[in-house]
Amino acid sequence: MTIQVGDRIPNIELRTMGESGPEPITSDAVFAGKRVVLFAVPGAFTPGCSQAHLPGFVVKADEILAKGVDRIACMAVNDAFVLRAWQQAQNAEAILMLADGNAELTRALGLELDLRSAGMGIRCRRFALIADDGIVQWLGIDDRGVDKSSAESVLAQL
Ligand code: BEZ
Repeated sequence: MTIQVGDRIPNIELRTMGESGPEPITSDAVFAGKRVVLFAVPGAFTPGCSQAHLPGFVVKADEILAKGVDRIACMAVNDAFVLRAWQQAQNAEAILMLADGNAELTRALGLELDLRSAGMGIRCRRFALIADDGIVQWLGIDDRGVDKSSAESVLAQL
């Protein structure tokens, strides 16, 4: 079942790139005690994610943070090396990149996207959410394009 507004984000171990390589980071550590904007993409370096979704959050990061958001995070079913390379290519240092390489948080949220027919395995649907202390306050999911999960849509909710 897909996570709903009012639900708690499950505690799952993810990876992020540290000084000397990928490091574990739990979703509890990302969300606890903070107002967080999380957006998720089907894949780093894919056209829609690279040309629209991530760049929107790069451009609007300061505006989003100025609205009382403590942290902006981006999740994908990719490894931490790929997400770091994508972050560098997109000047996205303001955004915490979260690798859900085994799709564990993706599955726990009920937001899997089956791209096996495209040779891409199980990925994450394109979505964005706002969470306060780990509780979902707003959720926007896109089945096509970048609209409900865009930085502009998030800003309209803050
Ligand atoms: C994209 O352009 O964002 C995309 C392409 C293929 C699969 C998933 C996403």
